[in-house]
Amino acid sequence: MALAGAVEAHYKQLEQAWRVSDRSDVYDRLVVPNGNSTDPFHRWFHLKEAFSSRLLGQVISDTGLKRRDSLRILDCFSGSGTTAVSASELAQDYAGGIHVEAIEHNPFLHLVSAAKSHACLADAETAERLRRASEEVIEAASRSSEKLRVPGLSTFSREKYFEPDDLRELVSLRDAVASLEPGLIKELALLAAAACVEPASRLRRDGRALRFSPNRNPRKPREEFQRRISMMVEDIKGSPFQNASSIIHQGDGRRPRDYVSSREFDLVIFSPPYPNNIDYTEVYKMEAWYLELFVDEGSFRQHRLATVRSHPSVKFAESYEYLTSDHSGDVEELLDPLLSAIPKDRYATGRKQIVRGYADDMLQVLRQSRSLVHDEGKLAFIVGNSVHGNGESSFVIAADLIMSRLAELAGWRVDEIKIARTLFRRGVASPFLRESIVVLSPNLAAGGNRSSNPTAADRHQPSRSTDQNNRSR
Ligand SMILES: C[S@@+](CC[C@H](N)C(=O)[O-])C[C@H]1O[C@@H](n2cnc3c(N)ncnc32)[C@H](O)[C@@H]1O
Repeated sequence: MALAGAVEAHYKQLEQAWRVSDRSDVYDRLVVPNGNSTDPFHRWFHLKEAFSSRLLGQVISDTGLKRRDSLRILDCFSGSGTTAVSASELAQDYAGGIHVEAIEHNPFLHLVSAAKSHACLADAETAERLRRASEEVIEAASRSSEKLRVPGLSTFSREKYFEPDDLRELVSLRDAVASLEPGLIKELALLAAAACVEPASRLRRDGRALRFSPNRNPRKPREEFQRRISMMVEDIKGSPFQNASSIIHQGDGRRPRDYVSSREFDLVIFSPPYPNNIDYTEVYKMEAWYLELFVDEGSFRQHRLATVRSHPSVKFAESYEYLTSDHSGDVEELLDPLLSAIPKDRYATGRKQIVRGYADDMLQVLRQSRSLVHDEGKLAFIVGNSVHGNGESSFVIAADLIMSRLAELAGWRVDEIKIARTLFRRGVASPFLRESIVVLSPNLAAGGNRSSNPTAADRHQPSRSTDQNNRSR
């Protein structure tokens, strides 16, 4: 208890340096995928960890970027492509348009992001070609007599999860789509087929895992595929989007400089994996194995090893770049109270790795982003804090505060920590259990991207947090 108390005291002290305000009136519905299951394009695949299709517009207004003629935006953790699709919708208001570059590591989610954002700019003729291609796919799938290439993931071979007839339909759909010419139509058909996998099973995504739902009535894959294609055709035909462009890179969002080089971005916006043990590789594994994006355990594991160190599903190498940087002392000072509060049980090693690994990864992305944003630009990140451990020995990882301090080390100034919503966990009462959106500006005094090491006095600006202490928890 005393150790958890020391962590909370550490957080309180950190927080004093910044403006922290309760903005749940505006943001509580924007940091969750509110609207995404009904809005055109967004509705094609439900990513339950996505932010709202309406968040980007709010951030652009709040940061004053709305007044520009054109915008260049970078999202280092694209997920389902919410940023790129939302930007296409907003681009009509900008004479010079909006260009988005986004990065996603997961091969299936990369496909989701790319297909959606490219389709936003497609025309009615493309929609018609998609409709015709889907009819051919369904026709080919229904007469397929080839031996089935069942995905290598054992989940697919368990009859309690997939009825054999449904599995056959799913696999024949995939194989029929695979024979289409490479291009947007094929991307869309692959996405539509993969989006049928969960509905055609007795599994559902729940938090960190897939759960067996014995009473669920699986949907028929070909009907579901047809339904999804019709939705795509309708959205593409109804889209008036122009003035937008996007490039979705498949790769490591911690190193955006590997994909984009110039210092031209007006806004970097991202929601990284939260340090809450969710492993995206696991949660979205069925779709990736179904599309044969993973073919064996080796490729699956290799993929996991390059994800943000926010989960203990794989043993990451104990390698931390901050240790050899100018900031090693500052980062250790930031993390030490937290590392000391980790209970000495069998989870201790994994938890320490998350705390160190996550900080190391976030420092990397914040530093690299700094070198890609011009001096009047902004960075906004959305992150949730999480509880680890049980009862008396539980402690909170306040990712919003840890990342804010890392941002300072990376050459940013914290404009504001906006608390978007308070999170509730049974038996845990902490004012730091929350999801926030943090807005940063380049710290020009720190010399842009160069190593910056503000002193405590530099950091302390009078806190204008009027409502922070009045929040009800
Ligand atoms: C919170 S989600 C982003 C959701 C996104 N904002 C949306 O609205 O769909 C975090 C994403 O980071 C991805 N990710 C994890 N490690 C990554 C890495 N090293 N590089 C790029 N993306 C990564 C995950 O696959 C996941 O899609």
